[in-house]
Amino acid sequence: MENSRGNWGSNIGFLMAAVGSAVGLGNIWGFPYKMGANGGFAFLIIYLALAFIVGFVVMISEIAIGRKTGKGVIGAYQEISKKFKWLGFLGIAAPMLIMTFYSVLGAYCLEYLFLNLGDLAFGTLNMAGGDLFGAMLTKPGACIFFTFMFMAICFLIVKGGIKDGIEKFNTVGMPALAIMLLITIIRSVSLPGAAEGLKFMFAPNFEPLKENFIGVLSVAGGQMFFSLSLAMGAIITYGSYLSKKEDIVKNSAIIVVSDTCVALMAGLAVIPAAFALGGEGAAMSGPKLLFITLQDVFSAMGNIGPLFGAVFYLLVFIAAITSAISLTEVAVTTYADRCEKKGVTPNRIKATGVVCVLIFLGASVVAADGLGSNGMWVPFQNSLGIVGAFNDCWLDFVDFFAEGIIMPLGALLMSLMVGWEIGTDKIKEEVEVEGNKFHFYTFYKICLRFIVPIAMAFILLGQIDGFLGLEIFS
Ligand code: PFF
Repeated sequence: MENSRGNWGSNIGFLMAAVGSAVGLGNIWGFPYKMGANGGFAFLIIYLALAFIVGFVVMISEIAIGRKTGKGVIGAYQEISKKFKWLGFLGIAAPMLIMTFYSVLGAYCLEYLFLNLGDLAFGTLNMAGGDLFGAMLTKPGACIFFTFMFMAICFLIVKGGIKDGIEKFNTVGMPALAIMLLITIIRSVSLPGAAEGLKFMFAPNFEPLKENFIGVLSVAGGQMFFSLSLAMGAIITYGSYLSKKEDIVKNSAIIVVSDTCVALMAGLAVIPAAFALGGEGAAMSGPKLLFITLQDVFSAMGNIGPLFGAVFYLLVFIAAITSAISLTEVAVTTYADRCEKKGVTPNRIKATGVVCVLIFLGASVVAADGLGSNGMWVPFQNSLGIVGAFNDCWLDFVDFFAEGIIMPLGALLMSLMVGWEIGTDKIKEEVEVEGNKFHFYTFYKICLRFIVPIAMAFILLGQIDGFLGLEIFS
């Protein structure tokens, strides 16, 4: 039976939206810098193995849970499990928390897009990337304004609904993103000196694994989860609008492979260029790679630089917005479910408005803090007696709870719930409900019951270790 809340217009529409959710700042910002800082090739191998063994398996489970129940994250867990009923509340807290900083990072991309367009038209941008970024962070008014713009765009898309808002935007946005990414890659790999970057990415080197295996595993695992939009309610929510006749296993494989390809493509767009213009140090420069190192890369390209800069930051902005709408939809669908339960017609525009305003209020604090530049985190510094990355700024504080704890813990508990409480055969039933075959079922079952919980436990410990700077694993 199709659920009564409406479905995606087509399977391709669902895929565009799900890939749109997966492809985001995590791919274009997080993947290249984490790969750069964690040994290049070694990181890549661990990432690919985890995406196949853990990511693919969790993706199938989440889509199936969403489609089986036909409900958003809170309703889905309440319906499917006795012991883990409450898990949906984690699944709604995490996306709201993530959005309070994701929207600010999206806003930085928007601001960089305008800065590069301004430079293209009037040649106004004669600053090194570091100074530019520093100047931007210390202007809280402008950051809050661009965050507002980002959330306003998000509102306009989400209020349109699953088919007419989210699906339509992604069906145009995702191909556009792929084209812009290709343009940037061609430019990046044809720069003199880019070959060193390619070598760093693809020449086998297992040394970093010998030095810190658990460290690389947990960074790659956390990154893979975030990148695939797992354990955040987004995939359950999107799955709840999927038609019963579609093939969940095939769709999951397409989403995982596409997201991984885009992460690799983003690596190709960023790492060779950073090597070519700034050497290995630039490629390993960490989170500032996107906003400082790459801006310097564009500036060093001469007159054509601002054009590439504008195309690149537009690309990152589109990637960010297609992910942000899925995070926002988690809460909007939950509200619609509640209305349906009470027999009331949901007012989608009002619900989207309320969710976006709440996110904007939280995001304003993160934006005003400017990654710690404006001292808004200082009153809380060392408040827990812990010194670590977690204690630097508002963004890290929020990210610690969302990405550091809720996400790996949620995935760990979900795999225990499916593997040991409700049983993987329930997922098989849902996959096969209209005649599709569950290929690789035995592989799925073994991974979900044994490998995923163990991997998630390590990732959880590694994330806590990394965020709190405990250095147990390094
Ligand atoms: N996958 C997105 C990225 O790589 O940027 C982020 C994200 C979106 C995480 C949606 C979780 C989510 F539910």
